Amino acid sequence: MPEFSLPLRFRRLETADATAFRDLRLAGIRENPEYFGAPAAEEEAAGLPLFASRIVGTQEGDAVYGAFRGDVLVGVAGLFRPASGTMRHRGTLWGVYVIPEERGGETAERLIRTVIDHARQYVDVLTGHVTTTNARARRFYERLGFGFSGIEYKNLKVNGRHFDQDILVMDFTGNAP
Ligand SMILES: CC(C)(COP(=O)(O)OP(=O)(O)OC[C@H]1O[C@@H](n2cnc3c(N)ncnc32)[C@H](O)[C@@H]1OP(=O)(O)O)[C@@H](O)C(=O)NCCC(=O)NCCS
Repeated sequence: MPEFSLPLRFRRLETADATAFRDLRLAGIRENPEYFGAPAAEEEAAGLPLFASRIVGTQEGDAVYGAFRGDVLVGVAGLFRPASGTMRHRGTLWGVYVIPEERGGETAERLIRTVIDHARQYVDVLTGHVTTTNARARRFYERLGFGFSGIEYKNLKVNGRHFDQDILVMDFTGNAP
């Protein structure tokens, strides 16, 4: 349980944060596996090297940001850029998760605005996916100024059930989808 009298801080994760990052992401996937692009069992089996490598990334601008209440990681969100020269202008917002106790306040909005400010330095377009059943997240992204450019049909299959995902878009060149 977070201690709300402690300050809220936002910073880029470092490899030393890999354990906290793993624990938070696994908690998020277990809570709602249909909101995330990988099952908890796969991520758990891959272990800490997977989480450390995501923090480091492979492309300039790849990053994972964390929201910290005091020293405790309470939210995460990442930016991923494709390696291809024809796709590198398009970054993906991924792995967005804020613990239930921190929802409904400033934490998630400030975290994602931090990632947006980071992303606009590297990409023309920020994109992402939100599962169509996730009405709360969809409303949250709308409020932050994301548009929606279509549906990824049956993008996830969780426990034998298919889930469509809305495609989120924020265009830093000034054009809206
Ligand atoms: C998505 C997430 C980061 C958003 O953070 P949050 O603190 O919950 O978001 P906020 O409370 O600021 O905004 C939620 C909005 O949805 C609304 N909302 C809440 N429950 C809702 C529901 N069941 N249906 C529709 N809208 C809902 C809220 O009223 C608010 O809208 P408003 O600002 O117009 O009042 C957080 O809920 C989370 O981590 N969820 C679990 C993981 C997840 O869904 N990740 C996203 C994967 S794409």
